[in-house]
Amino acid sequence: MTSTPSDELDVVEAWNGNASRWSKDVRAGYDKYRAYYTLPAYLEFMPSIHGRRVIDLGCGEGSNTRRFANLGAQVTGVDLSALMISLARVEEERDPLGIRYEIQSFSDLSMFADGSFDCALSTMALMDGPDFAAAMRAAYRVLVPGGTLCFSILHPCIMTPVFKWLQSEDGVYEGYRAGRYFDEEPFVERWHFSKRPDGERVEQFKVPRFPRTLSTYINAVSDAGFRITALDEPRPSEAAAQDHPWLARWREHAPLVLFVEASKI
Ligand SMILES: C[S@@+](CC[C@H](N)C(=O)[O-])C[C@H]1O[C@@H](n2cnc3c(N)ncnc32)[C@H](O)[C@@H]1O
Repeated sequence: MTSTPSDELDVVEAWNGNASRWSKDVRAGYDKYRAYYTLPAYLEFMPSIHGRRVIDLGCGEGSNTRRFANLGAQVTGVDLSALMISLARVEEERDPLGIRYEIQSFSDLSMFADGSFDCALSTMALMDGPDFAAAMRAAYRVLVPGGTLCFSILHPCIMTPVFKWLQSEDGVYEGYRAGRYFDEEPFVERWHFSKRPDGERVEQFKVPRFPRTLSTYINAVSDAGFRITALDEPRPSEAAAQDHPWLARWREHAPLVLFVEASKI
């Protein structure tokens, strides 16, 4: 892959490369942001899905998909990466929850008939695909009238292509610097779960990012026909920030994620 990802082939290559390490780390609980911040907040934000037909857009290896199934939904997960989907299927075989997994782009969804789902959920995936507007149109089509779309993404105003924490001389977090907000040029970000056990050195993930402004995101949701019903910019809870002081800066200064809920009119 070049350093400037351009299409879904680049996304597939990157996430197939990430899949094995990603799934081991997520399943080992090394994604502490998910554990103590983003997932609890999302579970509180999302609609009730008990008894609903749910599609999980960009489901990855399926950890969150399984959470949704455990809430009593009939869940289908889609992901572009065949390796992610095969890891998800192995887990489903080991411990069946009735989840169907398919290799499919969330910007396509042509394997599903109109109105196949009551709810489309997505966690931390829609900023990783090149065509967000097409994803919104596809989600709109596969939902029933009155169906709900609910997704989380990296906060587009905060996690811009240039983001840096600002610290005082004695290490206190004072705020952040966010630059190149208007720059929608894709790029590849390299990182690993920073809260891995001490001393473990691992190869970094390569994550193609497709940055967009807040208005690009919100207008695409609305242009697809949805009515936006709620936004949230969650903070870690006070208890989480106390128990895990590395989370406090996200409580005091800036939200890592943006949540959007919308309804198919
Ligand atoms: C950061 S991971 C998140 C996975 C999962 N939702 C979770 O929260 O653990 C992003 C996922 O989005 C998938 N993805 C990126 N672009 C996609 C697209 N156009 N269609 C479907 N999946 C896509 C990637 O393959 C990857 O598995």
